[in-house]
This record gives sequence, structure tokens and C-alpha cells, in this order.
Amino acid sequence: MSLHLLHLDSSILGENSVSRSLSASIVAKLKEAHPAVRLTYRDLTAPIIPHLSGPYLAASQGAPIARDAALEADLALGAAVMEEFLAADTIVLGLGFYNFGVPSQVKTWIDRLSVVGKTFRYTEKGPEGLAGGKRVILAIARGGFYGPGTPAHSFEHAESYLRGIFSFMGITDIEVVLAEGLARGPEARESGIANAQAMIAALAA
Ligand SMILES: Cc1cc2nc3c(=O)[nH]c(=O)nc-3n(C[C@H](O)[C@H](O)[C@H](O)COP(=O)(O)O)c2cc1C
Repeated sequence: MSLHLLHLDSSILGENSVSRSLSASIVAKLKEAHPAVRLTYRDLTAPIIPHLSGPYLAASQGAPIARDAALEADLALGAAVMEEFLAADTIVLGLGFYNFGVPSQVKTWIDRLSVVGKTFRYTEKGPEGLAGGKRVILAIARGGFYGPGTPAHSFEHAESYLRGIFSFMGITDIEVVLAEGLARGPEARESGIANAQAMIAALAA
């Protein structure tokens, strides 16, 4: 089966990033199994996706407002981000765990995707996702431990948020590759990365 893969990274740590190396390993595994893969890559740290603005929302909803060059560029970026998301059947997203949640670069990306009529709609029975049928693999790196049963579990707002928003869009096939304890000393870091690599080895290609 040919794959249409969207690979995204969001860590600000460049070559020192664990989530970037994990997302790259996941993509390498998928590419090996699907040589005809169609791959789109987006680094959410550059170009930055700006925060939503009033003029952007108004113009994207067809309001007759004045459009300057900056707004036109923002609209074009939003359209490209949406198009590549909708076109993909598999999405690999690398992210570090920042201040108990997702990096703001991931949030501005989500804000461009969560659009009524595109990825969800409201019905008499409540909201309905329109972006189903995709496989999402999250590669998450975090300094501490936030799993079920840990004292900090209630501070985990990254995986839980992304599971929530993607399921709101109708996506139910969500897998997580997790490296945790990375700031708890060299041994914990090594074993956190080894655990994540084992999760990648166990992923279906
Ligand atoms: C701005 C920032 C905020 C962070 N906040 C947290 C946090 O709240 N909890 C935590 O466990 N680790 C936190 N960390 C540590 C990162 O989750 C850890 O360094 C992880 O490896 C980052 O992913 P990366 O290696 O892909 O950049 C933070 C790191 C940065 C740079």
C-alpha cells in the first residue's frame, strides 16, 4: 500500500532534540516498508505559523475585509497547512513536552486545522469529526514522568490534549512513542530513549 505521510517536528532544540530523532526513526521505518511513500515535511519552528488573528478568521470565513500582503501570506500558509493535513493518511508529529503541555508551535498548527466544515462539523447530535481514517503517531519527549499512577499525572496536558483534539476531528488511530525521564540523570535518560526505541520497533509499519 502506498502511503501519504506528513512528518512534522516542533522541538526548538535542533540536533539535540530527542523528539526529532524519534520522529525521524519512525519515518525511516515507514519509508523502508513503503518505498513509494509520498512524504511531506513541515518544521513547525520555521516558518512559524502565526497565532490566529481576527482579520485571518474573518477573511477565511469569506468576510469582505481589506486584505494586505501580510494577510494574504497568512491565508496562503493556513490553506497549505490544512491541505497537507487533509491529504495525508499518516501523520508523524514530534514534540517536546513544554510547561506541562504542547509547544506553542504545535498549538498554532492545531488552530489552523480545527476548522468547522473542514475537520469537524456540528450536527443535531453534537460535533462530528470529518478527518477520520488517518493514522497519527506522536513522538513525545519529556523531562519527567507523567504516566498513570505517577504524582504528576494530572499535569500531563500534551498527549491527553492531542488525543482529544484529534479524536474531535474524527481520528481514532492514535499511537504514542514516548521518551520520558530525560531530565532525571544520564541513566534515566538512556533508558527513556531505549524504551522509546523499543516502542518504535514494535510499531506496525
Ligand atoms: C521550554 C521548555 C519547557 C519544558 N517543560 C517541561 C515540563 O513541564 N515538564 C517536563 O517533564 N519537561 C519539560 N521540559 C523538558 C523537555 O520536555 C525535554 O527536554 C524534552 O527532551 C524536550 O524535547 P526535545 O528533546 O525534542 O526538544 C521542558 C523543556 C523546555 C525547553
